[in-house]
Amino acid sequence: MYRILVADGMNLDQIENLKELGFDVIDKFYDGEELGLMCQDVDALVIRSKNRITKEIIDKALEGNARLKLIIRSGVGLDNIDVKYATKRGVKVMNTPCASTRSVAELTIGQLFTIARYVNIANVTMRQGQWNKKNYIGTEVFGKTLGIIGLGRIGKEVAKMASAIGMKIIYYDILGEMKGYPRYKFCSFEEVLANADFLTIHIPYDPEKGYLITKKEFDMMKQGVYFINNARGALVCEHDLIDALDEGKIEAVAMDVYEEEPKINLELVNHPMVSPTPHIGASTVEAQDRISKEIVEMIVDYFHYDQQQIAL
Ligand code: 3PG
Repeated sequence: MYRILVADGMNLDQIENLKELGFDVIDKFYDGEELGLMCQDVDALVIRSKNRITKEIIDKALEGNARLKLIIRSGVGLDNIDVKYATKRGVKVMNTPCASTRSVAELTIGQLFTIARYVNIANVTMRQGQWNKKNYIGTEVFGKTLGIIGLGRIGKEVAKMASAIGMKIIYYDILGEMKGYPRYKFCSFEEVLANADFLTIHIPYDPEKGYLITKKEFDMMKQGVYFINNARGALVCEHDLIDALDEGKIEAVAMDVYEEEPKINLELVNHPMVSPTPHIGASTVEAQDRISKEIVEMIVDYFHYDQQQIAL
C-alpha cells in the first residue's frame, strides 16, 4: 500500500477519498529534520508554502531504504523546494499551478479597492473609537492605470477584472508582448513602474535574481502610487518599502506575502498605510477544493493505481 504524508493539510473530503482508494494517509504537520525523517517511510509528500524542502531534508528523506518518489506542492510556488536537487535524487516534484488563479486575482482586486479607499486603516481606527471621516478621502480606480508585472495566469485574470471595472492595463512580462491581448499595453519594466497609478506583481521568486523591487525601483515609480504584492515577499525589499511609504512615494500598500514567513515585521504591518494579510491568496473553499482534487488525481496517476492495488 502506498503511503502519503500530507504535511500541511488538504481538504478532509479528499483525504478520505485517498483512503477509500486504498492509500495509507498520514495527515499531520511536520517540518525540518522531523519531516525528513517521516519522509523515509512514505511514497509521496504533500506540502504547502510553510514547509522548506531543502537539500538537507531531501538527503534525510532518502537515507536508508529510500521510499520517497514524489513531492506535491499543493499550490503554485515551488520556491520552498529545492526542485533541482530533488530531481537529481530521483524524486519527482509536481504542483497545481492553475487551481488558485481566480482566488489570488480576486484578492488582488479586493486589495485595489481596500487601499484606494483606506478601508484597512479606517477599520483599525474605528475599532479604536475614532470617527476619522475627513481623513480618508480616497480615489476611484475607474480610469486609473494598473501596471502589472507578470502577465501569467494570475496577471491575466487580474487584468481581465480590472479592465472590466474601467482601469487601463499596462504590463511587463519577461516573455515579451502577449499575443491576443490588444487592449493591454506591453511596456518595458521601467515604463510600467513610471506610469502605473496602481502596481501589482505576479511573478515567481527566483533566488538567483533576488529582489525585484528596491529603493532604485521605488524611485522610478509615480509619486503616490498604490502597490500590491501577492506574489512572493522576497521580491520586495521591506526595508526600502517602509522608507518609500514614509517618504510618501508610495501612498498605500496591500501585501499578502513577506520576506520572512510566518515571522511578522511589526514595523511594516503596523504602518498605517499598509494593508497586510497572512498569505491567504489561495485560501478559499473553491481553490482548496480544486487543489485537493487535483492532488488526488496526480497521486492516482503517478502510482498507476488500479483496483488490484487495494488488495495489496
Ligand atoms: C502558492 O504558491 O500557491 C500560494 O502562495 C499559496 O500558498 P499556500 O498553499 O501556502 O497558501
